[in-house]
Amino acid sequence: MYDLVLPRKICFGVRSSRRLPEILPASARRVMLVAGSHTVRSGLAEMLSDLLKKSGREVLLVNGASSEPPPDEIDSLADSARAFRADSVAAVGGGSVIDAAKAAAALVPMEGRCMDYFSGSAVIDRPGLFFVAIPTTAGTGAEMTSNSVLTDPVSKIKKSLRSPFMTPSATLNDPELLTDAPSRVIAFCGLDAFVQAAECFTSTRGNPFSRSLALSALSSLAVNLPAFYDDPRNEEARDKTAEASMMTGVAFAQTGLGAVHGLAHPIGALLHVPHGEACAILMPYVFGFNAETVPEPYAEMARAVNAGSSASDFVRFTKSLVRHFDIPENLSSFGLTDEHFPFIIKNCRSGSMKTNPRSMSDEQAENILTELAGAGK
Ligand SMILES: [Fe+2]
Repeated sequence: MYDLVLPRKICFGVRSSRRLPEILPASARRVMLVAGSHTVRSGLAEMLSDLLKKSGREVLLVNGASSEPPPDEIDSLADSARAFRADSVAAVGGGSVIDAAKAAAALVPMEGRCMDYFSGSAVIDRPGLFFVAIPTTAGTGAEMTSNSVLTDPVSKIKKSLRSPFMTPSATLNDPELLTDAPSRVIAFCGLDAFVQAAECFTSTRGNPFSRSLALSALSSLAVNLPAFYDDPRNEEARDKTAEASMMTGVAFAQTGLGAVHGLAHPIGALLHVPHGEACAILMPYVFGFNAETVPEPYAEMARAVNAGSSASDFVRFTKSLVRHFDIPENLSSFGLTDEHFPFIIKNCRSGSMKTNPRSMSDEQAENILTELAGAGK
C-alpha cells in the first residue's frame, strides 16, 4: 500500500506561467505574489502581477526571500499576507522563494509563530491559503513537495518544516523561465534533480509509481542536462530538462531521498557549498558505498542512462557527469578537514538518511568524509 500526495493541478509547457489568473479559484481575489529578486529585475514579476490585476484581483508584490530563510522571515511574509488580507499566495522564483511562500501560505491561518511549527511544538493540522508555485529553476522540486527547507537560527542547520497540508495547490512549470539562468544555476539545479531522481529510485520508501518516474527522469537528464548546459539556447534540451525535473519532483515528494542529501545539508551549512554542487560532489562517493551491498538498482540506472549494465558503470557515469560541469571531485577546495567531521556526522541524521538503501554508521560516514576531504591526493 502507498499514498500519492500531489498538487491538485500541475501545468507544464512554454508560457504556462501566464495561466496564473485562471489557475487561481474564482474566489481568490487578493493575491500575495512572492517574487525572487531576479524575477523583479527581469520584469517577470511585474508581468504576472499585471495579469492578475487584469483579471480583477488585488495584488501585493513582495520581493524575494533569502536562501534557506530562517523562521522569522516566514513570520514576516505571513504577517504581510494577514495585513493585506490575502486569500491566496503565488511564488515565482527558485527553491528558496517557493519554500518561503509555501510555508507562509500554510501558516497564515494558524496561531503562533513559525518557530513553534519548525521546532515541532505545534503541528500544521489544516489547509492554509491556496498556493501556486512557479519555479524559475529546474531541479529543486520545491513546487511539488510538502516541506520547506529553512535554517535553524541557533544551530545554523537546514531543516524542513513539513506538513501534508503544505503541498502546493497548483504548480506552473514553464520551461521558458529557465532561458536566462546562469550556467552555474543550470548545472547545480540540474545535478540536484539528477541526484534526487537517483536517490528516489533507490529510496526504501519507493513504489512502482515513483521508480518509473525517477528512472525516466534520470535517462532524460543524462542527455538533456549536459546539452542544455553546453548550449542554453537549445530549447528542446531546456524543455526536456524542465520536464524531467518536474517528474523528479513528483516522484521524490512521495519517497524521500538518501544519504547524499543527508550529508549535503550539514556540509552546505558549514562550508557554504551551494546545495546542488554539494550533492553533485557527494554523489559518486555515496552511490559507490550504497552499491557495494545494494547493486541492482544502480545497475538498472546504468542501463537507463546508457552507461553499461553494472552498478560500477553507473558510479563511473556519475563521476564523468560531474566532471562535465567543471565541478571539483572532492571537497578539499571548500576546506573540508577532519575537524568538521563530528559536526557533519551529528547533523546528518535527517529523514533522507532513513530512506537511504544501505544504512550508514557514523564510522562509515567518517570514511566517506575522509575521502571527500581529499586525503592522500
Ligand atoms: Fe536536493
